[in-house]
Amino acid sequence: MATDDASWLHLDRRPHETLRAALERALREAIAGGVLRAGTRLPSSRGLADRLGVSRGVTSEAYARLVGQGFLEARARAVPVVAEVGTASRHPARAPEPLGRPRFDFTATTPDVALFPASRWVAALRGAIAQAPPRSFDYGDLRGEVQLREALADYLGRVRGAAVDPAFVVIVQGAAQGLDLLARVLAARGARRVVLNDPGLPSQWDRFAEAGLEVAGQPVDGDGMQVDGLRGEAVLTTPAHQFPTGAVLSGPRRRALLAWGRAEDSLLIEDDYDAEFRYGQESVRALQGLGPEHVAYVGTASKTLSPALRIGWVVLPARLVDEAVRLKNLLDAGSPTFPQLALASLIRSGDYERHLRRVRAVYRHRRDRLIQALATHLPGLPVEGIAAGMHVLLRLPPGVDDGAAAARAERAGVRVAALSAFARAAPGRGLVLGFGRIPEEHVEAAVAALAAALS
Ligand SMILES: Cc1ncc(COP(=O)(O)O)c(C=O)c1O
Repeated sequence: MATDDASWLHLDRRPHETLRAALERALREAIAGGVLRAGTRLPSSRGLADRLGVSRGVTSEAYARLVGQGFLEARARAVPVVAEVGTASRHPARAPEPLGRPRFDFTATTPDVALFPASRWVAALRGAIAQAPPRSFDYGDLRGEVQLREALADYLGRVRGAAVDPAFVVIVQGAAQGLDLLARVLAARGARRVVLNDPGLPSQWDRFAEAGLEVAGQPVDGDGMQVDGLRGEAVLTTPAHQFPTGAVLSGPRRRALLAWGRAEDSLLIEDDYDAEFRYGQESVRALQGLGPEHVAYVGTASKTLSPALRIGWVVLPARLVDEAVRLKNLLDAGSPTFPQLALASLIRSGDYERHLRRVRAVYRHRRDRLIQALATHLPGLPVEGIAAGMHVLLRLPPGVDDGAAAARAERAGVRVAALSAFARAAPGRGLVLGFGRIPEEHVEAAVAALAAALS
């Protein structure tokens, strides 16, 4: 960290204060107040003197005194560096570091980030910047770059059976922002109640609640979310692979859900977060393709490429586009341009789907290994949600405290989430086992360690 720019430094001299004393005080206050953080390299005494229009003697003496007081560290022929001092920082303390890294990590919310096609991404990004006309460096279309919206419209039609008009797509920063945006759109249009799967991702509950909406839970069974008794202006659902049970929404339920949405004029929000990873023969089309005017489709590059990209997309019913664009402007004035152009070029070149084919095979092998290992080490416990995605659900017998089981596993170096951690009212005990962070060759040992912890 270096600060060559000292424009923040104002020398307001108090009566009878020398220039040197004023400078020394200003620097000391900046360090003690956390404005200049430990490790920051300050300008040389000559550079600072030039910028402040004072003589070099003033700055070098101020620096020397601050070194003597322990605020700065001086090194021969190098600029002074801010020392580690007990600052009365204005910055709040950081959240405590999470627990240490476990030996085996079954966290279900991330893919194997080591599979990220880094060199292809860098090439696509470099190409996007090199070929960009000057206007690309300006604020972009609030919906996102048209190249990406068009590439996604073709891709989602071909691969997910979605009916996408690029004009109705808004590129967002991950599914997280997509849901945030939809929650705000709903609230702005006077919606009061949203129905979410129970169990479901707690952060998704929080997003809708934060927008001022009442959030109601809808139970999930082996056929996905139940559709009887739905009541609300919107329903969030993960039809392709429910999170966290892994259930696939059955055909009759899909039809019933769409019929309900039409009859009630309610919005169905389809979180299609991991649908590219389907292992059986049968393909499950996106709900959106069957009722684009009633479904807001949310997709993400977080599972297919990396959650660090923070790229997602929302395909909206036509009537919601203007409101979504207005709110996207308020949120962040548009998603970053060049990663969008890079993703568009990966999709257009076919590299995206080649990457998907490659990593799908990796995950399929891992999943098969996991199912085998569970049958060996924890026989008799049902394993559900295996048709797609990057996690399965290991059901525990009724009466077993899954939270306590997960805590025992954590103590044994195996990180795993209890199903009840995702539930509001829903009964059911189990462990959610993601295989994004466990290489195939470690799956057997990870399950053996889990079984030992549970025994
Ligand atoms: C149910 C569900 N939806 C969406 C996502 C992706 O979120 P984002 O695109 O914000 O990274 C995840 C990630 O774990 C998820 O579990």
